[in-house]
Amino acid sequence: MTQVAATQDDGGVPCLNIDQITKVYNTPTGTVRALDEVSIKQRRGEFLSIVGPSGCGKSTLLMIAAGLSAPSTGAILAEGKQVTAPRTDIGIVFQSHVLLEWRTVLGNVMLQAEAHKIERKEAEHRAMALLRSVGLDGFEHKYPHELSGGMRQRVSICRALVHQPKHLLMDEPFGALDALTRDQMILDMQKLCKEHEISVLLITHSVAEAVFLSDRVIVMTPRPGKIDRIIDIDLPRPRRLVDRENPKFSRYSREILEMFLARGVLRE
Ligand SMILES: Nc1ncnc2c1ncn2[C@@H]1O[C@H](COP(=O)(O)OP(=O)(O)OP(=O)(O)O)[C@@H](O)[C@H]1O
Ligand SMILES: [Mg+2]
Repeated sequence: MTQVAATQDDGGVPCLNIDQITKVYNTPTGTVRALDEVSIKQRRGEFLSIVGPSGCGKSTLLMIAAGLSAPSTGAILAEGKQVTAPRTDIGIVFQSHVLLEWRTVLGNVMLQAEAHKIERKEAEHRAMALLRSVGLDGFEHKYPHELSGGMRQRVSICRALVHQPKHLLMDEPFGALDALTRDQMILDMQKLCKEHEISVLLITHSVAEAVFLSDRVIVMTPRPGKIDRIIDIDLPRPRRLVDRENPKFSRYSREILEMFLARGVLRE
């Protein structure tokens, strides 16, 4: 079967070009083929989501896109340049938040600013504005153990944005949030990305979240992960929460759910 490639040719250099990536992990108990010839071209400013069953290689793909893991075969280019080392031009939110327990909330967000040598006053100003935007003002001097899971995840999102990256990679960033905070974060994310023209690669288990936020949704097959289908989300922006009730929105969600049912990822 010919593989689908999430590519587009609008003449511009894609901000991210994942070119026929395969990833095989060699473990003491055998080899695991996590990704199989995956190709994705993300255009600048695009909000691109990836949905797929657990274990299909989504986190692996994100780590490769971030330059934190090397593909077994294939190439990855960011703004036209081959990625051979961990990328410093991106913001990244990992599947499980990684906060330093001995640093305060503000200290954790500032970590990224320090790594990018941003002037302290300016960095603190940005960090506080971000914390405020995710409802964490008043918590800046708390330590991670004093926060809920959802609050910790919000701190990781602020940390990923404080150096104002143009490309944001996120792995299930809202998974630990309660439904209300999750909705608020989704709205905030839409606003932030539009205002700062950030290109986003989002991995999520939530079909509704992917449809709401994305310009395109990539649906992956069970392992070894291949691209099954790419769905253009043709809904006007800014999108509002009530748009989820709109029939076009439901059609996109149903299309993805039907793919999961057809592949046996979901069983009724
Ligand atoms: N460092 C590793 N060493 C060996 N195998 C690995 C490693 N990381 C991932 N794998 C394997 O590769 C496959 C894909 O894992 P990955 O974490 O990318 O999946 P995922 O799609 O992110 O899953 P989930 O939705 O559960 O987070 C799995 O079979 C996993 O066991
Ligand atoms: Mg994962």
